[in-house]
Amino acid sequence: MTTVETSRSGPIAVIRFGEPPVNSLGAATRRGLADALNAAIADPEIRAIVLAGRNGLFSAGADIKEFGTPAMLAAPNLHEVIAVVEASPKPVVAAIEGTCLGGGLELALGANYRVAAQNAKLGLPEVKIGLLPGAGGTQRLPRLIGVENALNVILGGEPVPAKLFAGSPLLEALVPGDVVEAAVALALAKAVELAAGGRLPRARDRSAAGPLVEALLGFARTTARAGFANYPAPLKCIDAIEAAATQPFDEGLATERRLFTELMFTPVSRALRSAFFAERAAAKIADVPESTPVRPIASAAVIGAGTMGTGIAINFLNAGIPVYLLEVGQDALDKGVARIGDTYAGQVKKGRLKPADAEARGKLLRPTLSYDDIGGADIVIEAVFEDMAVKEKVFTTLDRVMKPGAILASNTSTLDVNRIAAVTKRPADVIGTHFFSPANIMKLLEVVRGSATAKDVLATTMRLARTLKKTAVVAGVCDGFIGNRMLEQYLRQALFMVDEGASPQQIDTAMEKFGFAMGPFRVSDLAGNDIGFHIRKRRAIEHPDVVYSKVADKLCELGRFGQKSGAGWYDYKPGDRTAYPSPVVDEMIAAYRLSIGVAQRRIDSAEIVDRLVYALVNEGAHILEEGIAQRASDIDIVYLTGYGFPVWRGGPMCYADEIGVYGVAQRMRALARNPYGDPAFWTPAPLIERLAAEGRAFNTAGARS
Ligand code: 3HC
Ligand code: NAI
Repeated sequence: MTTVETSRSGPIAVIRFGEPPVNSLGAATRRGLADALNAAIADPEIRAIVLAGRNGLFSAGADIKEFGTPAMLAAPNLHEVIAVVEASPKPVVAAIEGTCLGGGLELALGANYRVAAQNAKLGLPEVKIGLLPGAGGTQRLPRLIGVENALNVILGGEPVPAKLFAGSPLLEALVPGDVVEAAVALALAKAVELAAGGRLPRARDRSAAGPLVEALLGFARTTARAGFANYPAPLKCIDAIEAAATQPFDEGLATERRLFTELMFTPVSRALRSAFFAERAAAKIADVPESTPVRPIASAAVIGAGTMGTGIAINFLNAGIPVYLLEVGQDALDKGVARIGDTYAGQVKKGRLKPADAEARGKLLRPTLSYDDIGGADIVIEAVFEDMAVKEKVFTTLDRVMKPGAILASNTSTLDVNRIAAVTKRPADVIGTHFFSPANIMKLLEVVRGSATAKDVLATTMRLARTLKKTAVVAGVCDGFIGNRMLEQYLRQALFMVDEGASPQQIDTAMEKFGFAMGPFRVSDLAGNDIGFHIRKRRAIEHPDVVYSKVADKLCELGRFGQKSGAGWYDYKPGDRTAYPSPVVDEMIAAYRLSIGVAQRRIDSAEIVDRLVYALVNEGAHILEEGIAQRASDIDIVYLTGYGFPVWRGGPMCYADEIGVYGVAQRMRALARNPYGDPAFWTPAPLIERLAAEGRAFNTAGARS
C-alpha cells in the first residue's frame, strides 16, 4: 500500500497520508509527503492543498521505532517536509481528525490553516518519552497559542481536545461533519482570497514575545526542577520555548534541534522509549493471536473479603461489572463490605468520585455467604488465605458450583497454580491472577498461565485486565512468579549487607537515591515483616540449602512486624507513617553481627545499588531462560508498575542494558570475591554470560539508540 495518495477536488489537491495503526511519519511517508506536496505545488491546475491523515486520525507523530536507526536520518527529515509545507505559495490546510500528536501536530503547524473534527485531540507528548517536540513544535506552538498555553501543552504532554483551541490562531474552525470536506471548502476560499491580494498566514511570522514570558518561564523551571529532578526533558522543553520568545524563528529552530538531539541520546529517553514499547509488548502473547476469541465477562465473583478480595472486588465495581463477594462468616463479610464502603466514602470526601457514582458502584456489590449464589458468574477470583489446603478446598467447591465455561482464577502470590488446577475437572479454565496490594490502586496484574490453561482463558483474562485498567504481564508457574521471585533475591542481598555492616537506613537511602520510591526496609515495614518470616520458614523446609541472613527473623521474634505493629526496622509513632531510626533495632543488629562473627566493613552506596539491582537482574535472567517471562521488557514492566523501580531507568533489565550486560557480568564476578559474599549467588545466569559474550542486550526492541 502506498503511504501517501493525492486526489483532486476541483482545483484542490487532497493529500492523504499514513499507514495503520497510527499514521506515524516514517521515512517512506515523509518521502511520499514531500513528493506529493512538490507535485501539487508545481501543478498549475492546483490552487490549494489539503493535508489529511487516514484511518480516522491525523498522525501520532514521528515513527519512534525508527529512532536510533538510519531510517530516522533518511531524507527528507520531518523538518524538510514541514519546510515544503510552509514555503508553499498555495494555501495549505491541515484537516485534523482523531489523534494529532507530536510530529503529526508539528506537520499541521507548518500549514497555513488548520480545521479539526469534534473528536480531534492535539498534543505534543514527546516529553513523556524524554524528548522535546523536535520538528518546530516548540517554536510554532508558542507563536500560535502563547507561551503559557504552549508550556502547558508541551510540559503536560497530554492530548488536548481540539475544542479548547477554538478561536485561537491554532484552529481556523472546529467542524461537526466531514473534516476533509470542510478543509477543501476553506482551501478554496483562501485560494480566492490569495488571488485577490490576501496573504498566507504562517506561524513563523508571528511573535511569541510578551511581557510575562520571563516570569512564566521562571515559574515553569522551578516547578520542573522540583517535580522532575531526574528527567532532563522538561527543562530543555522550557529552554526551547524560551528560544521561541527570544530568538528569530530560524535561530530558535536550530536551538530546538540541538536540544532535541541532546535529549535523544540520554539514558532517560532511551529508558522511557523502552518502557513505551514494553507496555505495549506485554499485552502480546506469542502463541495466542490477538484474534483469539474471548469469553464474555459480564459478572464476577470474589472468594474471600480480606485485604485483597475487597480490593479486587472494587476493580470490578469501578468497571461497572456486578460482583459477588463470598466469605465464610457474616463478621468477615460485613468487615469486607464496610472496607469497600469506606474506600468509596474516602474518594467522595476527597472529591475524586461523585456521590451518585459511589452509590451506583455500591449497588453492583452482591455480598453472600453461599456458593449457591455465585455459580452463574463468568469469572471467579479466589483470594482466601495463602494455604494450599484451603485453596484446594475452595477450588473443589468452585468446580462443583460454577457454570461450564466460567473462568476459575486464583490470586495466590506463591502457590502452584497447576496444583490448584489439578483439583478441578477443568484445569483448562484455571488461571492465576496475581493482583498487587492495594489491589484497587496498583496497576500491575501478573497473569499466571498454568500448564493446562486454555488460550481463550488467557486471552479473556488479558482483555479483562484492560477493562479493569490494569497492566497485565503473563508469567509462568513458579514460586513467586516474576516479581516476587526476583524480590526474594533482592531482599536476601539487603539482609546480607546488614550482616556485613550496612544499616537499614543506609540501604534504604541508597536505593531511594537510585530512584526507588522506598528502600527495601521501609517497604518491608509497610507490607509486614511477618510475610517474609513465613516465607523463610517455608523455604527452610523446602530448600534447606538456600542461605538466608537470620537478622530479619530476629526482628520478627521481637514482634516488630512493621507499621501495623507500630515497630519494624524503624520505630513509628501512632498516626504517623514516618520511619524513625530505632535504637532497639541497632542493638539487635549489633548483637546479631557479633553472634555470627562477620567482620564489619563500610559498604558504600554504589555497592548497595549494584548488589540489589544485579540481584534482580540475575534472577530476571533465570526467569527469562526458564520461559517464566516471555521477554525481558515484561520483567521491566513488572518492576515499573508493581515494585516502584524508577520509571526513568526503564526497569532492571533495561538498566542492565544501559550499563552493558558485559559490565554487569564483570561486576557480579567482582562481587563474588567479597570475603563474606556468596559466590553461588553471584554466578551470572547462563543467559547473562551468553549475551555478554555476544555483545547483546536483554531488550532488543527498537528503542535503543
Ligand atoms: N511511532 C511508532 N509506533 C507507534 C507510535 C509512534 N509515534 N505511536 C503508536 N505506535 C504504535 C504502538 O507501538 C502500537 O504498536 P503495536 O500494535 O505494534 O504494539 C500501535 O502503534 C498502537 O498504539 P497503542 O497500542 O498505543 O494504541 P492506542 O490507540 O492505545 O494509542 C496513541 C494511540 C495515542 C497514538 C498512542 O500510541 C501514543 O500516545 N503514541 C505515542 C505518540 C507520541 O509519543 N508521539 C510523539 C512521537 S516523537 C515525535 O513525534 C518526535 C518529533 O517531535 C520530531
Ligand atoms: P486476608 O487474610 O486479608 O484475607 C483472606 C480472607 O479470606 C479472610 O477474610 C478470610 O475470612 C477469607 N477466607 C478464608 N478462607 C475462606 C474460605 N474457605 N472461603 C471464603 N473465604 C475465606 O488475606 P489477603 O492478604 O487478602 O490474601 C489473600 C490472597 O491474596 C492470598 O492468597 C495472598 O497470598 C494473596 N495476595 C496477598 C497480597 C497482599 O499483599 N496481602 C498481595 C498479592 C496476593
